[in-house]
Amino acid sequence: MAPASPAPAVLEEIEAAAAALNGAAPEDVLRWASERYGEGLTLACSFGGTSGMALVDMVSKLGLDIEVFYLDTQFLFPETYALVGEVERRYGIKPVAYRPSLSPEAQAEEFGEALWSTAPDMCCTLRKVQPNYRALAGKGAWVTGLRRDQSSDRRTVRAVEWDWKFGLGKISPLAAWTEDQVFDYIQEHDVPYNALHDQGYPSIGCTHCTRAVAPGEDPRAGRWAGFSKTECGLHLSPSASQWRS
Ligand code: ADX
Repeated sequence: MAPASPAPAVLEEIEAAAAALNGAAPEDVLRWASERYGEGLTLACSFGGTSGMALVDMVSKLGLDIEVFYLDTQFLFPETYALVGEVERRYGIKPVAYRPSLSPEAQAEEFGEALWSTAPDMCCTLRKVQPNYRALAGKGAWVTGLRRDQSSDRRTVRAVEWDWKFGLGKISPLAAWTEDQVFDYIQEHDVPYNALHDQGYPSIGCTHCTRAVAPGEDPRAGRWAGFSKTECGLHLSPSASQWRS
């Protein structure tokens, strides 16, 4: 269920910040968010794409104290878990893992084997969306790696928004960046990234629902291939149209 609407003053502040930071460098957006939300700010890094890694690097270079978390669906690739360890060593941080309340075995018992293929939305809800509510409980805003160039669902993403689904601020410092800009940043700053990226996986989620893409194919074509599904549900906001209209 969608959370209660925020006070008008909260939305006005978000709107003013969105206007002021429109076109700002990602680092300026991160600095503003850190000052505004302090310990109430958390960064969602999937360790599967390049955007989250660029953000972790920027936060470290700016010397900002922002918690990093990831949704460990327990179906992540070995390369993704390896990257978490590499980030811990390189940046001296300890990303917080949020896991589903049902183990893979308990899920199979309750919902049947391979829920990801019989009801992928349900699987994402159990393994990503519900843990994300826990990760964001009590927070003032979360930082995401969303970009407008990632898909048609994301073409209206702004650097600062109200998240109607989870009921807090949503900060996407790379909203206006392209995949190439992110990758240039990664290379220029020697930022670690998922080893699968160079093996044809530009967008990486769970093992059961991610495949490699062919050169020239849509980068997100490997996510939930064979289903009309394009989003896990973290970024689908039922009331977003209200806000943007
Ligand atoms: S999604 O459909 O899986 O959400 P994508 O992989 O493009 O899409 O991720 C978009 C953003 O959602 C990431 O930059 C990150 O902020 C957040 N996100 C997605 N998956 C996770 C995860 N497993 N843990 C933490 N954050 C995540």
